[in-house]
Amino acid sequence: MDIRFAPMEGLTDAIYRRTHHQHYGGVSKYYIPFVSPTQHHVFTPKELRGIAPSRNAGIPTVPQLLAKDAEHFLWAACELKEMGYAEVNLNIGCPSGTVTAKGKGAGMLRDLFHLDAFLNQVFRKTPLPVSVKTRIGFESPEEWAEILEVLAQYPIHELIVHPRTRSSFYKAGTLCYDAFRTAAESCKLPLVYNGDLFEQTDCELLQRDYPGMPMMMGRGLVCNPALARMVCGGKGLERQEFRDFHDALYEAYRKELTREQAHSRMRELMIYMACCFDGAEKAAKGVRKSNPENYEAAINRLFDCPLATAPCFSQKGIGL
Ligand SMILES: Cc1cc2nc3c(=O)[nH]c(=O)nc-3n(C[C@H](O)[C@H](O)[C@H](O)COP(=O)(O)O)c2cc1C
Repeated sequence: MDIRFAPMEGLTDAIYRRTHHQHYGGVSKYYIPFVSPTQHHVFTPKELRGIAPSRNAGIPTVPQLLAKDAEHFLWAACELKEMGYAEVNLNIGCPSGTVTAKGKGAGMLRDLFHLDAFLNQVFRKTPLPVSVKTRIGFESPEEWAEILEVLAQYPIHELIVHPRTRSSFYKAGTLCYDAFRTAAESCKLPLVYNGDLFEQTDCELLQRDYPGMPMMMGRGLVCNPALARMVCGGKGLERQEFRDFHDALYEAYRKELTREQAHSRMRELMIYMACCFDGAEKAAKGVRKSNPENYEAAINRLFDCPLATAPCFSQKGIGL
């Protein structure tokens, strides 16, 4: 089983990736949340905290770029090659309004003429294999066939398909599985599936339809950090190692960040991980509303709740 950890800005940073890799494994590639190169051709200190090789040593990582300008993309790809990376990922799926307003991320899907010209320049000069993470349209899945036609012209290392449109953001019930089928049937590029793989049975169903298909997981894996290991035939989530994982993360954040920043990081992560407990609504709310002073007490109350028998991400659970 080939499982990839989706990039998740604000959640799967270098500390999280390192801690997850040490405690759980089961992931063949961790994608680093996007870096957005500008005309200044320098990485910011924040970006370097994500991509510096020393921060990712021993972890199979793929950096991701958000760009609409081939020149900036190619500058960053050269820098990443110098750093020792073997692949770079292009994000043409980010649905955020501030990103698409600049014509980046899923905004690239609105202008296929520009996307084609961009890819043309990129693939003529790229120093690294380029994988692409895409959605299936901006407004409607009907745009997908034309998008695929553009993408299929290029030697894309892997095409990661999240079968939602930009307008669907991450809303439940909006996944368009048929669009993935279209890609699997008509496109010769190596594909990776991404979207709503929240529990083992979701992965089994995908593998039934597409045996051997690499799977990228985001929210489901942040919620249940043992999910990839379990899907690979290993053991499921266990209480003590879950607690140890939490404590190791918190300690690492406390070492690097202020108490307030560490609390804020942990709170975001725990809002997802709280879905792994049964009858924990009140305790989870306590974590959501905690402050740096009472966070540890709130976490103790959460870990006093029983683990769910089949831990699973739920959008309701995290109040989305
Ligand atoms: C909080 C958050 C941050 C994300 N950040 C990124 C990102 O930096 N780059 C990217 O390509 N996708 C990003 N995504 C999208 C995820 O990588 C993934 O495609 C999405 O969550 C769907 O997969 P899932 O259903 O397994 O969660 C983000 C999603 C969320 C919810």
